[in-house]
Amino acid sequence: MGNHTQAAPSILIIFGGAGDLTSRKLIPAVYNLYVDKLLPADFDVITVDKRKIGKDEYCRHLREGIDKNSRRGKADDKTWSEISERVSYISADFENVSSYKKLAGKISECERHWKKQAGHIFYLAVPPFLVESIVGNLGKSGLAKERSRARVVVEKPFGHDLESAHDLNSTLLKVFQESQIYRIDHYLGKETVQNILAFRFANAMFEPIWDRRYIEHVQITVAETVGVEHRGAYYEHAGALRDMIQNHLLQILSLVAMEPMVSFDADEIRSKKLDVLRAIRPIPEDQVQAFAVRGQYTDGWMEGQRAVAYRKEPDVSPQSNIETFAAVKLFVDNWRWQDVPFYLRTGKRLPQRVSEVSIQFRPVPHQSFPPSATLAWQPNRLIIRIQPEEGILLRFQAKQPGPTLHLSTVDMLFSYCERFRSAPPEAYETLILDVVRGDATLFMRADQAEAAWSVIMPVLEFWDTVPPVDFPNYQAGSWGPESSEALIARDGRSWLAPLLETGEDAKCETTGTEEG
Ligand code: BG6
Repeated sequence: MGNHTQAAPSILIIFGGAGDLTSRKLIPAVYNLYVDKLLPADFDVITVDKRKIGKDEYCRHLREGIDKNSRRGKADDKTWSEISERVSYISADFENVSSYKKLAGKISECERHWKKQAGHIFYLAVPPFLVESIVGNLGKSGLAKERSRARVVVEKPFGHDLESAHDLNSTLLKVFQESQIYRIDHYLGKETVQNILAFRFANAMFEPIWDRRYIEHVQITVAETVGVEHRGAYYEHAGALRDMIQNHLLQILSLVAMEPMVSFDADEIRSKKLDVLRAIRPIPEDQVQAFAVRGQYTDGWMEGQRAVAYRKEPDVSPQSNIETFAAVKLFVDNWRWQDVPFYLRTGKRLPQRVSEVSIQFRPVPHQSFPPSATLAWQPNRLIIRIQPEEGILLRFQAKQPGPTLHLSTVDMLFSYCERFRSAPPEAYETLILDVVRGDATLFMRADQAEAAWSVIMPVLEFWDTVPPVDFPNYQAGSWGPESSEALIARDGRSWLAPLLETGEDAKCETTGTEEG
């Protein structure tokens, strides 16, 4: 496409080409990668779906997706016309092996035109129940046989529980090798999530205090203001624990808690993260209620607008017992983290959209200032803000100017927006580019995905068998159920309010990738 990078020729083959993910995330990401000159010179997109639709109409639909969802805003005419020439749509039934002949024909056509062999990226942007037949058909049709050239990208949810995730891994591994499989967790593509590694391991000054001797506890919050939107049918089988904690929050926890990697090799980093998941203390079956709480939103007000209860959302049962909020307390049983609690919470229809990691340090060992000086004293806190207003904030004590000794809490802030003057690339841009380059660092390995399921299985099993007695139990626009406050209050702590200044996305320039 844009003849701008040394990467090998590649064809991105999207199953689910007429679906929401393709127009909302994948094609806008391809568009931005093209504008940033990051794609190989020979790069085509072939999309496959059942819907019968002409090329012009399909391209109009994709362009609308870019206009609405790209970080650069509306698509540029010239750029879009260059890209759309490289997009083909095949209307075919994924479940029928004969459809794959058509696909193979289209792939050969691109390669004949380029006079080169290309890498084939099979992107499964489809519901999980279709994965098995597509993977089987890729195997039967011979499209997956060249190990060095074929890669498969699998979207979340990766299974429904440990057993189904294990089965899904077996299905994939019958046709592909682990090194060809890219399991998506889009949080790992976020710049600020990747920056956790840079922050921890490219600076010598934090690592010596990054353990149980100095860190008192850690909180990870991923709060959303949106409700379940149009995804009721999916969400009714998921819930917040499966949808967010099993993947995004546990991946963040792994990055915060992992040991330093020896090299920047994909497997080295993934193994270090896996060690964390394996070290998480199993939640005892008979104590789930002391370690996990769930909630479901009822009607409420969000920024002056009425928000309807989860049970009244489209495709949701009026008696639904699915949780839209979940909080868990976990311990990582190893030398570094023994007995340091990690509190994780996530929910929909919360008052602010914010994802952040809050590291609370222990108090000073001896308070030498007079009590009158320390009335406003607070422990040191480091906040890694994943979104919005991406950055890192260090909160510490300083002397308030004036003749009387008073300590006051002050903040040192690194803001991505101010420093780099451009919005970070979207997670899907990073992830698609990594698949093209064959870098699996930001993708889940089979053992990681299963280890993450193992962590939450005791809670899932308990919640599946013991229905909640108080649903709905939090108002839209509040910070979740009272039981969430109680979970952390029992340990003499409270949830730390996010330190967002505006609560809105930082207004960064959206073009250009260079530092300011
Ligand atoms: C997805 C979940 O994985 O992440 C959604 O399925 C959730 O329910 C979304 O809304 C949040 O992602 P982001 O990038 O908007 O924080």
